[in-house]
Amino acid sequence: MRFLGTEFEKIVGIASGVLPPVKAVNERVCKEYSPAFLTSKTLTPYPMEPHREPTVIKFHEGCYMNAIGLGNPGIEGIKESLVKGCRVIISAGGAKPEEFAEVARHSEGAFAVELNVSSPNRKGFGESTKDYLKDVIQAVKSATALPVIVKLGPWDNVVELAGKALEYGADALTLINTLKGKLYEIEGFTPLLSYGTGGISGRCILPLAVRIISEVYAEYEAQIIGVGGVLEWHDALLLLASGARLVGLASAIMERGFKAVRDIEEGLREYFANKGLKPEDVVGIGVKR
Ligand SMILES: Cc1cc2nc3c(=O)[nH]c(=O)nc-3n(C[C@H](O)[C@H](O)[C@H](O)COP(=O)(O)O)c2cc1C
Repeated sequence: MRFLGTEFEKIVGIASGVLPPVKAVNERVCKEYSPAFLTSKTLTPYPMEPHREPTVIKFHEGCYMNAIGLGNPGIEGIKESLVKGCRVIISAGGAKPEEFAEVARHSEGAFAVELNVSSPNRKGFGESTKDYLKDVIQAVKSATALPVIVKLGPWDNVVELAGKALEYGADALTLINTLKGKLYEIEGFTPLLSYGTGGISGRCILPLAVRIISEVYAEYEAQIIGVGGVLEWHDALLLLASGARLVGLASAIMERGFKAVRDIEEGLREYFANKGLKPEDVVGIGVKR
């Protein structure tokens, strides 16, 4: 599969947030499971503390809600995430355009930089920064020659924002980040997550990811990494049929560990072999129906 001018042998990779910025872990995951790509946790130019526990809950089979709040070790997380033998995408975050650019400037050796303008879990960061999307993209583009991927969330105006991201210079899009939700415990009715709200992920957002990727692909035929709700190989197939060229996993890894990458890749491979198809043959196939 071609993505950003590079030939990928594998389709399934790791989405941002489930790999710790620890070199030994990244090396082991790269070697044992050979994912199409590894995305780092979102890194900011300075270390940030995560929110207080609880930061992640499982509220239904295959469904999660998290508000870690972009806790990360800062720039030093980049060298911990870059490993030989795997394509690494550095997820950059910040509270101003120059902070995203600072992370990008230090990401030499990565395959691409992914801009997290979509996490709902910390005020002033993530989705708060989509309001100055143009400045973020332009600051990053002038700081690095690496391809720039913009990660968007499941907002009502996501198709319009995707168009703007491409117009401002994004080379590809990652769709989608989590959907903001809230739950209470039923004794004292306090929120289950310390932050109050959290991002919903996993099985329950698959139809949302399918719809958004399809709409964005139909409009722009953009290069897309599909993320959201993939727990089985046939979920990944749906994201390809919606227009994604590669697929990222987050909740599947919390559910089944990193071996989910290999299982889902193998399931896809078997499907394509049985049908006599190549992965490229199905990209966007559902959108045209
Ligand atoms: C525990 C956890 C942490 C996450 N952290 C990040 C993050 O740091 N940056 C980011 O862009 N997305 C983050 N995400 C969002 C995922 O990358 C992904 O977009 C979302 O979970 C939907 O995919 P899924 O249904 O496969 O989990 C996180 C998700 C989870 C579950």
